[in-house]
Amino acid sequence: MRIAVGSDHRGVAMRAKILDLLRALGQDAVDLGTNEQGSVDYPDVAAQVARMVSDGQAERGILICGTGLGMSIVANKFPGVRAAACHDDLTAEISRRHNDLNVLCLSADILGERLVDRMIEIWLNTQFEGGRHARRVEKIRDLERRNHKNNGAQ
Ligand code: RB5
Repeated sequence: MRIAVGSDHRGVAMRAKILDLLRALGQDAVDLGTNEQGSVDYPDVAAQVARMVSDGQAERGILICGTGLGMSIVANKFPGVRAAACHDDLTAEISRRHNDLNVLCLSADILGERLVDRMIEIWLNTQFEGGRHARRVEKIRDLERRNHKNNGAQ
């Protein structure tokens, strides 16, 4: 699976470990930086990863910043992207089963390395359940379509 991965300056070390893990698991991980030395603005990185997922150039994305929050806010601006900050095994699993999450956002400041490795494996291996959850995800798509048609104005 092609997975786009990006972080701001706070997530550089975690991103490197995640890229190693993904490649060890046989995934096609695309590294979108940051490779800057100093601090960068998280919307710039989140937009690159989210655009790849939105355009179908990557099936999934992983974004890391201090909290995971800023990354998720930005990524959700892109059509077809369902992003959220997950913080443990359960949220990683349910995000797939119920929400069909395609962009996993992680906090470099809060999460430990072993927990993150576990969360990623769970997130990669858990299937969307469909059924009533498919109806709910379809409602999200419908809101997206309507809001885009109105240029975001409601
Ligand atoms: C950067 O200082 C910090 O704001 C960013 O990493 C992230 O936590 C934003 O949500």
